[in-house]
Amino acid sequence: MAESTHFYELFQPSHYNVFLDINRATKQISGTSTITGDAKETGIAIHQKYMTISAVTADGQAVPFTFDDETEAIHIELTKTGETTLAIDFNAPLTDSMMGIYPSYYELNGEKKQLIGTQFETTAARQAFPCVDEPEAKATFDLAIKFDEQPGETIISNMPEVKTEDGVHYFDTTVRMSSYLIAFAFGDLQSKLTTTKSGVQVGVFATKAHQAKELDFALDIAKRSIEFYEDFYQTPYPLPHSWQLALPDFSAGAMENWGLVTYREAYLLLDPDNTAFETKQRVATVIAHELAHQWFGDLVTMKWWDDLWLNESFANMMEYVAIDAIEPDWHIWEAFQTGEAPMALQRDATDGVQSVHVQVEDPAEIDALFDSAIVYAKGARMLVMVRALIGDDALRAGLKNYFATHHYGNATGADLWAALGAASGMDVGAIMTSWLEQPGYPVVSAQVVDGKLTIHQQQFFIGDGKDAGRQWQVPLNSNYDAAPAIFAATDATLGDYAELRQASGEPFRLNVGNNSHFIVKYDDTLLQDILAHLDDLDAIAQLQLLQDLRLLAEGQQISYADIVPLLPRFAASHSAIVNDVLYGVAANLKKFVKEGSAEEQQLRALFGQLSGDQIARLGWLPRAGESNDDQLTRPTILSAALYAKDDAALQAAHDIFTANQDNLAGLPAAVRVYILANEVENFGSAALFDQLLNDYRKSSDASYKADIAAALPTTPDSDLVAKLIDVFEDADTIKPQDLRAWYRGVLAHKGQQAAWDWIRNDWQWLEDTVGGDMEFTTYITVTTGVFHTPERLAEFKAFFEPKINTPGLTREITMDTKVIATRVALVEAEKDAVNAAVAQTVKD
Ligand code: BES
Ligand code: ZN
Repeated sequence: MAESTHFYELFQPSHYNVFLDINRATKQISGTSTITGDAKETGIAIHQKYMTISAVTADGQAVPFTFDDETEAIHIELTKTGETTLAIDFNAPLTDSMMGIYPSYYELNGEKKQLIGTQFETTAARQAFPCVDEPEAKATFDLAIKFDEQPGETIISNMPEVKTEDGVHYFDTTVRMSSYLIAFAFGDLQSKLTTTKSGVQVGVFATKAHQAKELDFALDIAKRSIEFYEDFYQTPYPLPHSWQLALPDFSAGAMENWGLVTYREAYLLLDPDNTAFETKQRVATVIAHELAHQWFGDLVTMKWWDDLWLNESFANMMEYVAIDAIEPDWHIWEAFQTGEAPMALQRDATDGVQSVHVQVEDPAEIDALFDSAIVYAKGARMLVMVRALIGDDALRAGLKNYFATHHYGNATGADLWAALGAASGMDVGAIMTSWLEQPGYPVVSAQVVDGKLTIHQQQFFIGDGKDAGRQWQVPLNSNYDAAPAIFAATDATLGDYAELRQASGEPFRLNVGNNSHFIVKYDDTLLQDILAHLDDLDAIAQLQLLQDLRLLAEGQQISYADIVPLLPRFAASHSAIVNDVLYGVAANLKKFVKEGSAEEQQLRALFGQLSGDQIARLGWLPRAGESNDDQLTRPTILSAALYAKDDAALQAAHDIFTANQDNLAGLPAAVRVYILANEVENFGSAALFDQLLNDYRKSSDASYKADIAAALPTTPDSDLVAKLIDVFEDADTIKPQDLRAWYRGVLAHKGQQAAWDWIRNDWQWLEDTVGGDMEFTTYITVTTGVFHTPERLAEFKAFFEPKINTPGLTREITMDTKVIATRVALVEAEKDAVNAAVAQTVKD
């Protein structure tokens, strides 16, 4: 069968009766998938993967069939086309792959327990029951599930249970939906429930290894998010319930199954009495993201995976829209500016990056589309740009229409632009196509030439890039009226600069608010004018200035040496996002210094100089009643103080550690990781190492565990590094879902060689363990993030180039090789100038 034939073209299901018998003890699934649908041809195909098919009937008559894992199909020969009911008997294994139907493992009072859950997106429903596993193949589903049930266990699914008979749990018929959104789970669960204003039951479910209060925060955010979306979308939530379930083993971050959203424990549960504000923000945005999908993705689904952005870019924007509405004091869009914006701008500047909209067929390639920088961050930025252009009223009116037209069906990007275009009266599609279909983004250069203020757009590259003459329709958002709203040409002259400057009374700026996906290169006249009025700029404008300068330096359009002297001017800021970007730029200087060198000493001194007053102001420990900004700034400053190796700061942290030695989990969560890291790095011992690793094994507190995973790899002791690497493949210590963070940590510290040796030697094990899941490629990405020497570049190429044809890895390997090569070249070209600038700035 040709790869590009979608099975939906051959057989169009309308209803499923799925019976599953799941046995945890034998790790076996058996069942029957009965599918009623319309056969378009007599030779049809139904998806399956890793199954044994024992019988297929069509309208009660046995029919010939074959099946294989190569095409992930059952090929069936029918005698006629038209309305047909297939019944397919199958057996399948229950495996630990975190895909399909799979067990999660946890401990309760020293006893090992299991919770069975599901993860079907993108193409794993076919591992659970035979189906046409394509987003367009929407149908209604009746699920009936039997399992080796123990007293007290709970089973939940997309819809409420209607009856139990002979140990079989029957669930209510679903609405018309895609197979990848089906979900269920069973085990020994606890839950908390509430009801929205409109009568939707909302619940949070978790294992009993957690304290009941850990469910409260999520319940509140979920309830208020649904209420917000029902109002914003002007479309009711269509199911009777919305369950949120935390699974101990989970490959993605969270998954929007309709009515039964699943999460990593770290992204749903939190201790209301000891959780960092940043963690609360993250949990809230994750919940809001998945609940945005209940409409955008679930009610209306992309027709095919090439329009994955319709799902993910939209949900990524809406998580901020929703949280900003329900928690306005959080200023959550600031997190968008420090998180999503730079991620998108960095990745999208490397030649070879994909566009947001991409053609795709192969399942491994579909999974590789979930690129957090492009489909999520750039896509969300694109939609933020649309929102800024058309305004919320038109956005809401357009969405209401979009849902009304396409509900329980599928849509493409063009359908969304049509709905938003009709609501706003703007040709949204024409503007957005330039952003959606083209990779990359422009740098807009603003210059005064012969007294005239001019602008020019050109694709921005970090590293070598082939200029393909791309042009974008750029929403300029200038503070000068002379600048056009949309800049679609390559060049424009805005008028006499002196007159414009005089008339406006303030420096010329572009992309005010930083909502458009481009960067600005001001010439010296314009930049000096802005810098002379730095204090007039709000936090986002200051952040943007540094962010754009950093990108220009990465692209070698200016020198990092020119940015270094500017850094002290931002150091006294009380804005968390300004500090975030300031220390982000400073951290980028680390690649220019060799470990143990005099230059490194200078750089540490610069960090100390920048952070000294702030650490005195904020102290190590959170204070009651302090501002959100102070809460968010402190971790940034502590991290800088640790790098600076400021003696007083290290001693203060050591004292806090000593005083809390018996209850490290009880240290304030916002600063705990820095206290632990300081101890491991500067005051460590084998006993401390064992204590923390033991806590890691025993704790069910995801945030404490993440802190230990970040702190232990800072050990300078090579024996302890070896001990850590020894447990990488021990799932009882480090769950595969958490391994990447450990690997990155060790690679980024003294254990770099050991971690790099490990991944090269045990690549096969890694592929077997996490090969099929969305995190796999990110092991390559995080390696790339750390490497900056010619030696590592050569080793990286030697190891990864032979793997370049592995499905799903091709783009990552190609791009990452370029990223490291570009960084090596930058270090070579700039290190002397940068280090001289650091030395000079420290002296000044
Ligand atoms: N639909 C995705 C989860 C997913 C991703 C499933 C890739 C299968 C393959 C979900 O809505 C999502 O985007 N999850 C994010 C977290 C989110 C809050 C940004 C994730 O898993 O990283
Ligand atoms: Zn999503």
